[in-house]
Amino acid sequence: MKLLTVVGARPQFIKAAVISRTIPLFNSRRAGHRLVQEVLVHTGQHYDDEMSEIFFRELGIPAPAHHLGVGSGPHGQQTGRMLEGLERAMEKEAPDIVLVYGDTNSTLAGGLAAVKLHIPVAHVEAGLRSYNRAMAEEINRVAVDHLSTWLFCPTTQAVKNLGCEGLVTGVHHVGDVMYDSLRYNLARSGAGAHLLSELGLRPNDYALATIHRAETTDRPEILRELVHAFGQLGLPVLLPLHPRTRSAMRQAGIALPPSGLRLIPPVSYHDMLSLERQAKLILTDSGGVQKEAFWLGRPCVTLRGETEWVETVDAGWNRIAGTDAEEVVAAARAALGEQPSAPGQPYGDGHAAERILEVLAVHGGPRG
Ligand code: UD1
Ligand code: UDP
Repeated sequence: MKLLTVVGARPQFIKAAVISRTIPLFNSRRAGHRLVQEVLVHTGQHYDDEMSEIFFRELGIPAPAHHLGVGSGPHGQQTGRMLEGLERAMEKEAPDIVLVYGDTNSTLAGGLAAVKLHIPVAHVEAGLRSYNRAMAEEINRVAVDHLSTWLFCPTTQAVKNLGCEGLVTGVHHVGDVMYDSLRYNLARSGAGAHLLSELGLRPNDYALATIHRAETTDRPEILRELVHAFGQLGLPVLLPLHPRTRSAMRQAGIALPPSGLRLIPPVSYHDMLSLERQAKLILTDSGGVQKEAFWLGRPCVTLRGETEWVETVDAGWNRIAGTDAEEVVAAARAALGEQPSAPGQPYGDGHAAERILEVLAVHGGPRG
């Protein structure tokens, strides 16, 4: 059974690494059955070394069979270029299934190119909803869920969300591949002591922040508000800068951030896990980082008006603060002052990848 996996953006490399690593183990346990074979296509949505190649090296992801080199651009142009390249790659590879992850433009292009060629689509991280249609990601995930044959949900909430849209066939609650990833990589990520000492930081004595969403970065007044809030926390704040945020800060004229704010380039996944694990507090608009905070037992403040990962909020580990400086500072103080109870396991048991492969190997082709 031949899988064609489409990746393009940072979190997709991390998610895809889990399944790519599991395939040989899965095959070795299935002597006598047809083996799962995977080819990877990289759209080129992310292309800086620290946004792409670093994850292939660190996580041992196989080299892509096709690299489309699409790069950045407005949504229509970027997605359209991906569609052209993906259609060619899919026609050449003739896979039984196309596998897509998450909710980026690469996810949408992968799903759309496949379904038009009558290749069934498997969507990992199906059923997530923010119910905010102003987010490009919400449009992408709704569209891809509705064109997929297999919908692999990380949570029971995601299954319910799909049910509300009439999607019940092909829906599988498997757990979160990012939890698989964290469990596998945490021990390999090291203590990160060198990182902190290079930055002049001490464990459990700094906040770690990430911001990259268009909704946050594209409005200079919001960026300024957040930078102001970071200066009020009474803790050094470490901010690994997504390239979108780096250029937005430059354009917003935030040349001299408050002295407690340390700006660094994006870091590798292992370094990120080390920095998260040792942070006293995490502030973020990232989906993946909210969950990692939860799994690592670090209090989190979400710099958005809503979250798809409602379980982290229900368990008391995540506060939805929006982007108003006063609200952010108040949420941070509240988060630091309270120790929630043990988080439970709403994201599965770390074996989502095996479940996904099992479903695909049993039901997935070859196509007649
Ligand atoms: C994309 C996803 C978002 C995901 C994020 C993960 C969409 C619509 N958004 O957002 O869901 O959370 O990836 O990080 O698909 N840039 C570089 N170098 C790079 C990559 C990007 O300089 O390697 C800059 C470019 O100026 C580009 C901007 O970042 O225009 C935004 O990149 P893009 O891939 O369009 O969206 P992200 O904000 O990264
Ligand atoms: N991440 C990383 N280096 C960084 C920032 C984030 O490796 O400098 C990891 C983070 O640990 C998580 C993933 O990237 O696993 C989240 O990706 P991102 O925030 O870009 O996208 P989102 O999850 O919001 O779609």
